[in-house]
Amino acid sequence: MFELSINGQNVSVDVDDDTPLLWVIREELGMTGTKFGCGIGMCGACTVHIDGVARRSCVTTVAQAAGVKITTIEGLSEDDSHPVQEAWRSLRVPQCGYCQSGQIMQAASLLAGNPNPTDQEIDQAMTGNLCRCMTYVRIRQAVREAVT
Ligand code: FES
Repeated sequence: MFELSINGQNVSVDVDDDTPLLWVIREELGMTGTKFGCGIGMCGACTVHIDGVARRSCVTTVAQAAGVKITTIEGLSEDDSHPVQEAWRSLRVPQCGYCQSGQIMQAASLLAGNPNPTDQEIDQAMTGNLCRCMTYVRIRQAVREAVT
């Protein structure tokens, strides 16, 4: 049994200790905003915040996630009003949308640690979040807009 703090709520889950946090979030807790892409930490679709820092939940075990503060896209803001979410809507960033919760979580983590990143820093921070629709130009614009 693991006690998790997720989106400000304490929850208990009864799973094996090597269960990926992504499975717990989606299958045990029913929060499906966090996506499965590659399962090996290479695409960023499963990005969540752990103690405020972007992490890949597919390669984070539930045991590693116990006792830390986990935030998913559902908990990023109360009413989708985080500046990154507003910029994403304003610039209509998503195309198919599948990777976008991971993109938003990665961008929000970047801005929390670096409130005014250069284009190079944006590209560097976002480079591990893949988008098959190639929305990268709008992603960069939206990160810039979220700053202003
Ligand atoms: Fe976790 Fe791709 S599903 S990085």
